[in-house]
Amino acid sequence: MYMNTLLNHKTIRKYSNREVDNDTLNEILTAGTRASNTGNMQLYSIIATRSAEVKAKLAPAHFNQPMITNAPVVLTFCADVNRYNKWCALRNTDPGTDNFESLTTAIVDAVICAQNVCVAAEEKGLGICYLGTTTYNPHQIIEALNLPKGVLPVTTVTLGYPAEDPAMQLRLPLGAVVHSDTYKDYSDADINAYYSEEESDATNKKFVAENQKENLAQVFAEVRYTRAASEAFGKILMDTIRKQGFIK
Ligand SMILES: Cc1cc2nc3c(=O)[nH]c(=O)nc-3n(C[C@H](O)[C@H](O)[C@H](O)COP(=O)(O)O)c2cc1C
Repeated sequence: MYMNTLLNHKTIRKYSNREVDNDTLNEILTAGTRASNTGNMQLYSIIATRSAEVKAKLAPAHFNQPMITNAPVVLTFCADVNRYNKWCALRNTDPGTDNFESLTTAIVDAVICAQNVCVAAEEKGLGICYLGTTTYNPHQIIEALNLPKGVLPVTTVTLGYPAEDPAMQLRLPLGAVVHSDTYKDYSDADINAYYSEEESDATNKKFVAENQKENLAQVFAEVRYTRAASEAFGKILMDTIRKQGFIK
């Protein structure tokens, strides 16, 4: 069944009124925490938000994407060295976690856990949506969720029973992302071939026309994920990482 779940994944952004009961949520979260993690330190925390009041506080941080208030459960996955640091302090040792390597470890662990949660949720018939806005406005999420030093929100997943059945999104062909033995760099012909399906897709062609651009790459780079936005959000993220004590 898991193979079917993985091969049929679709992001769900509209949820029915059906509640996600605590047993189901706990089973899904347990599946998440069974994921591999660096040295079994589990340098992450998950904030499970059901409260309408807290969701309302979170919404602006996610640019009011409707999933935050419509989904019965919002999961914020955080890199977390706070708990481990406290344990080390109580046991008379230096955790040594205020450096870029430890931050990376904690981010990797949090994201692997998140993906296990997503697959488990989909296996149970729930729909999920990741929210990348978590790393755009981490300072606002820290405030809304009372995250202490040593805790950084990394990604958010909204969870609920689906109220839509969207079309499956295209992926690049396997050959575009998998290299045999060593990395084989792409020729212009490879790039043209690998992106041709996405570029000839009717929905993507519509995006190009609507945005009055010449091609799909321009929609990505000049409309959806602009340099200016990436640089501005990247600065906020770096400042937040410093404020949260991950890097001196
Ligand atoms: C890290 C991450 C951040 C994402 N952020 C958002 C988001 O903020 N809003 C949204 O509607 N979808 C978001 N998505 C969902 C992607 O848009 C979606 O996975 C992608 O378009 C492929 O579609 P599919 O998941 O249905 O196959 C995010 C996905 C990931 C993995």
